[in-house]
Amino acid sequence: MCGIIGITGRDDAVDGVVNGLRRLEYRGYDSAGAVINDGRELRVVKRAGKLGELVKALGDTPLSASTALGHTRWATHGAPNDRNAHPHLDPSGRVAVVHNGIIENYQELRASLGDGVRFASDTDSEVVAHLVADELDRTQDADLFTAVRTVLARLKGAYSLCFVAVDDPTTLVVAKYEAPLIVAHADGVGYCASDVAALIEHTTEVAALLDGQVARISPDGIEVTDVDGASVEPHRYTVDWDLSAAEKQGYDHFMLKEIHEQPQAVADTLLDRLNAPAPGQPARLTLDELRIDEGEFGRIDKVFILACGTSLHAGMVGKLAIEHWAGIPVDVEVASEFRYRDPIVDPHTLVIAISQSGETIDTIAAASHARDQRAPVIAISNVVGSTLAREADGVLYTHAGPEVAVASTKAFTTQIVACLLLGLYLAQARGRLYTSEVSDTLGRLEQIPAALEQVLELDGQIRELAERYKDVDYTMFIGRHAGLPIAMEGALKLKEISYLHAEAFPAGEMKHGPIALIEDGSLVVALAPAGHVFPKMVSNIQEVRARGASVLAIGTEGSTEELKAHADDVLTLPEPPHELAGPVLSVVPLQLFSYHVATARGEDVDQPRNLAKTVTVE
Ligand code: F6R
Repeated sequence: MCGIIGITGRDDAVDGVVNGLRRLEYRGYDSAGAVINDGRELRVVKRAGKLGELVKALGDTPLSASTALGHTRWATHGAPNDRNAHPHLDPSGRVAVVHNGIIENYQELRASLGDGVRFASDTDSEVVAHLVADELDRTQDADLFTAVRTVLARLKGAYSLCFVAVDDPTTLVVAKYEAPLIVAHADGVGYCASDVAALIEHTTEVAALLDGQVARISPDGIEVTDVDGASVEPHRYTVDWDLSAAEKQGYDHFMLKEIHEQPQAVADTLLDRLNAPAPGQPARLTLDELRIDEGEFGRIDKVFILACGTSLHAGMVGKLAIEHWAGIPVDVEVASEFRYRDPIVDPHTLVIAISQSGETIDTIAAASHARDQRAPVIAISNVVGSTLAREADGVLYTHAGPEVAVASTKAFTTQIVACLLLGLYLAQARGRLYTSEVSDTLGRLEQIPAALEQVLELDGQIRELAERYKDVDYTMFIGRHAGLPIAMEGALKLKEISYLHAEAFPAGEMKHGPIALIEDGSLVVALAPAGHVFPKMVSNIQEVRARGASVLAIGTEGSTEELKAHADDVLTLPEPPHELAGPVLSVVPLQLFSYHVATARGEDVDQPRNLAKTVTVE
């Protein structure tokens, strides 16, 4: 989705903005632009396409000033072309704005300006620059900060907005409502950005604005108020990511680097989870932040897991873990559906909201829908201080470090691990497992990183398979039990970065329809670890093979000998240290397979078409 970076107080503000935009590229975008304020005029350069186009255009029109603002746009209203790219100016060129989110009443606001007003774009955002400029014209002594606050009262929708005005050359004014915005001040320079990735090269001390907050940023510091002008506190925190974590470090793509970071990411997520409440007491599993009484978990009679995309697939593994260990019924639901129906939720329902970014609007809204009905909410998020983490009653962080590739990999495996921890935590809180059983199971989970290292050694073999199957017309992923979420994740990964047609089904459902799609030349990827559903998977493999499909089976040491008799290709994984940890291992060959298919097809792996990393619009 769109990205924002603003800098004031540095001679090379334009270069800083371009670097910041580069760090925001991962969010997904289709045009980019920048404005500089040199106190005489606002100069805007913007281009459709990749950041390179903007950099080329900036080279043709060198701009220098100590205040600059940049934006990457992911089109919602209006085609992805030069004129719809941000920043947008008012007709007199006095005010410029960049915007993430959607102004829902933009047509009404445009109409309120009268018939004679010309708009230079088809966007919902431009009208906000017109309104602020009008407000400055109308109120002779108003400054940009005051004018923005007045205009905010008229906006409906979601926004993070950043403004510059020619009369105020060292000021950025920003506002936030339901779209993230971070501000920071370091060494006499003021910054704003849509996420911390753009700021960590400058500072790790940041503040997230809360909904309804407005800030004036200058080289002297940051002032934050509500829309009425009363002074308020943003959420201040320290970012624990370092710059190297947000760089490729010799890998061709962020996705490949992040796949290889999984052993460490999982180890970090498992680290220091056992704490003794008092000296001499047995160590108990703990969450990172808990703002509800642990005793409340004894009264929970139902769990909803809410998430989108890859995070939803992690939630499906979470369901198996919570039902197995804690004995509570669990529903897993797409967040965007949950919020628009009438789910039966009460104070005895626990809601677990999973989001890597913690900024996915559907997940945040679904969680708040549940909180309105007094259900406690626990967030699983990778981003400290994210909106979801702040608003939840408890948080379990996945310590995956920054995930830059659009296709989620290490966030997924750490989300599964967090779900396993949560399953054990609930079992402990409800007295379903002894503390010793919890710590024994945790000890087994701690073997996952070493097993992941072994799985990564299959990379060469997977690359060869990808070469062979890269032009296949149709791929079906099948699995049962803990293999099903991984089949779904494998299909999602393949389609999102290689654009090949891929679907996933519970293996037992195939005969009820999907098997009609199988023909000569189809590929079926079958999740077939040793275990209680293995014999059923073998039958399903035989069924698709009999109809002409090639079968790539993902087995474990205990299942591969038999698989070799039925599948065209078999990848052998180590036996997982616990059956429920199996998905953490079995997804990795599918991530690598998608990666190698996409690179063999020459696709842009880290920034696939039409997709955005953080989905802040509905
Ligand atoms: C796919 C992918 C997406 C995200 C989804 C939710 O690789 O990354 O499906 O999982 O957009 O994002 P978060 O977890 O940030 O809420």
